[in-house]
Amino acid sequence: MCGIFGYLGNNQHAGALILDGLKALEYRGYDSWGVAIKKADGTVFIEKHTGKIGNASLPVFQSHIGIGHTRWATHGGVTNKNAHPHVDCSKKIAIVHNGIVENFKPLKSHLIQKKHIFTSETDSEVIAHLIEEIHTTEPDLVKVMQRLRSKIHGMNAIIAFFPEYESFYIIKNGSPIVVGVGNKEFFIASDTSAIIPHTKRIYFLEDEEMLELTKSGIRLYNNTGMKKKISYSTITYSAESAQKGSYDHFMLKEISEQPQILKNIIDTKKREIIQAAQIIKKAYGTYLIGCGTASYACLAGTYLFSKIAHRHINFAISSEFSYLVDFLKDSSLVFALSQSGETIDTISSVKKAKEKNAKLLSLTNSRGSTLYRMSDYNLLLHAGPEKAVASTKAYTAKIAFLYLIAHKIAKTYSLGEKNLTKAIDEVTEIIFHKSKIQSLSSKIKDHQSIFILGRGVSYAAALESALKIKEVSYIHAEGFAAGELKHGVIALIEKDTPVILFNPEDETYDDTLSAAHEVKARGAHVIGVSSRNDDVYDTYIEVKNCGDATIIPNVVIAQLLGYYLSLSKGHDPDKPRNLAKSVTVK
Ligand code: G6P
Repeated sequence: MCGIFGYLGNNQHAGALILDGLKALEYRGYDSWGVAIKKADGTVFIEKHTGKIGNASLPVFQSHIGIGHTRWATHGGVTNKNAHPHVDCSKKIAIVHNGIVENFKPLKSHLIQKKHIFTSETDSEVIAHLIEEIHTTEPDLVKVMQRLRSKIHGMNAIIAFFPEYESFYIIKNGSPIVVGVGNKEFFIASDTSAIIPHTKRIYFLEDEEMLELTKSGIRLYNNTGMKKKISYSTITYSAESAQKGSYDHFMLKEISEQPQILKNIIDTKKREIIQAAQIIKKAYGTYLIGCGTASYACLAGTYLFSKIAHRHINFAISSEFSYLVDFLKDSSLVFALSQSGETIDTISSVKKAKEKNAKLLSLTNSRGSTLYRMSDYNLLLHAGPEKAVASTKAYTAKIAFLYLIAHKIAKTYSLGEKNLTKAIDEVTEIIFHKSKIQSLSSKIKDHQSIFILGRGVSYAAALESALKIKEVSYIHAEGFAAGELKHGVIALIEKDTPVILFNPEDETYDDTLSAAHEVKARGAHVIGVSSRNDDVYDTYIEVKNCGDATIIPNVVIAQLLGYYLSLSKGHDPDKPRNLAKSVTVK
């Protein structure tokens, strides 16, 4: 969601660098884009477009400083005028913004009274005019930005570009922003994936801090304007790991990487898993929270902890958790799951939990992310960059962690490892024979709805599977607890309606099989995913029994089904419409 990329240095092709930087951030999701670049002749080139960057190029001119932005519309439609950067009346200040200025209405009215002329419908434009207004009486730009910060409400990352002084001022609250430092050059971006081709030396800006970038260097200030020492982080993953390689899509690449990632968790993560198990054992109540796919991993976690570890772990989707924090105490533990570590609903509910002095354990795929930095204890998925909007490998990696932690608490760790190894073999098989899933996709692609049923942990799998299918194929897909079938869902079953049943040979087997008969009697096309075939299935997909780790191969089937359904509908599975990879606004 909203990508920011800025450059200041000696390279005279800032325009091309900025465009490449924005392309590297495309995966976050956007619907318009724009740049503001200072040319060598001193003029400022501003260009904005709706739609994707595609093969766009900028006119060739020499430049060594500028900023670009990909916008995911919140306030104001998808138009050229609403695209960033926004400028003030004097056109001497260009800003890009990620987040929402919650009090933009009163600010805008005040600025209009002061004769500022607005050209867009966005909340963001007030920032440029407000800086201009403050700057009329305050020459020191550090103080201008401090005053700007005090007047703006909401979670934001703001870059103010002053072409005249060849400087950037960066402030943030909530929304992420990172700065990469190369050889006498600086890169500003919403996340590290755009910086990594240039430098691995990164600074993650904290809330309340301000960064000043000029030709003479980089300076960090605290919230009172005092200078602070900068401690850089080093990024460990390679630029190549964030490329598609020989795959047609990131989604397929990321699905295919799962066996290796899961194996890596078994091979290298035991120490962290033991620590996490101890933290959970000590806590007085643990609350698993996450959004989207992460939330379905959390839900699966509650079943796994209950069944394997005999431990009740609460679950809430992050956007609702803010309304449940009254239960928390200083001995409570919030266990937050997030691939990006930047999802605003997770960050803001965690902030509320921390106000209650609850402890925070996070499981993220992003070292240095906001959630990572907020946490008392960290677990890292080490799944490598996930670029497809629909999360796949981060999901199965989260399940593997939760599964092994539950086994650790239950003192049955080797059984956990054994079943997870079986699950990895099954995932490898499924990926090898993925053409079978592709054939299934061509049989069901023209149906309006697909239903997915399961009980216990397979209910959580059904929800995640439905999400995967709808995200990338835009086919209406619903996951249900199989037991709920007769309480409503069955009314929706028509002749040939595809119904996928996750039916592992566990305590849910017989009841789920009854559900298969019930939908079959109403004419459904019954797709059984199980280790045991049955006449009731019109289509049977074999997944060998891997104990409770069977959830992993089951969901991989749905990931591939979603992928192929998306292709068969002519969509781009990597960049589904309206969705963003990193949801950094509420
Ligand atoms: C967005 C993405 C999903 C993701 C969710 C949570 O909705 O499109 O793929 O599951 O955010 O993201 P997180 O980074 O917190 O796991």
